[in-house]
Amino acid sequence: MALRQRYLFVCSNRRADDDAKGSCAARGSEEIRAALKEQIAARGLARLDARACKSSCLDQCSSGVCVLVEPDHFFYGRVTLADVPEIVDGLASGQRVERLILTPDDLARG
Ligand code: FES
Repeated sequence: MALRQRYLFVCSNRRADDDAKGSCAARGSEEIRAALKEQIAARGLARLDARACKSSCLDQCSSGVCVLVEPDHFFYGRVTLADVPEIVDGLASGQRVERLILTPDDLARG
């Protein structure tokens, strides 16, 4: 398969329900990754443009659901299912969804 322009690493880490740190899977990351995959394919972007992959913990747990976008090298955070169409629009147009990008303060919190 071709090397895509972008890879979206969606944190799929799941911690126990009583773990105070929480986890992206507990916040719905599996459904978000499935929706990204489906909408990337529906827009004809799956072959060359983008692929949504599962990731282990990206160490930004306080801002989950977290998605690392490479090779652009930034995080989307606090992603919900409702954000997926806008993220996929951004993949199609080459624009980032600025309101979802983690800030230096977010990154410092981890
Ligand atoms: S659990 Fe998702 S970033 Fe740590």
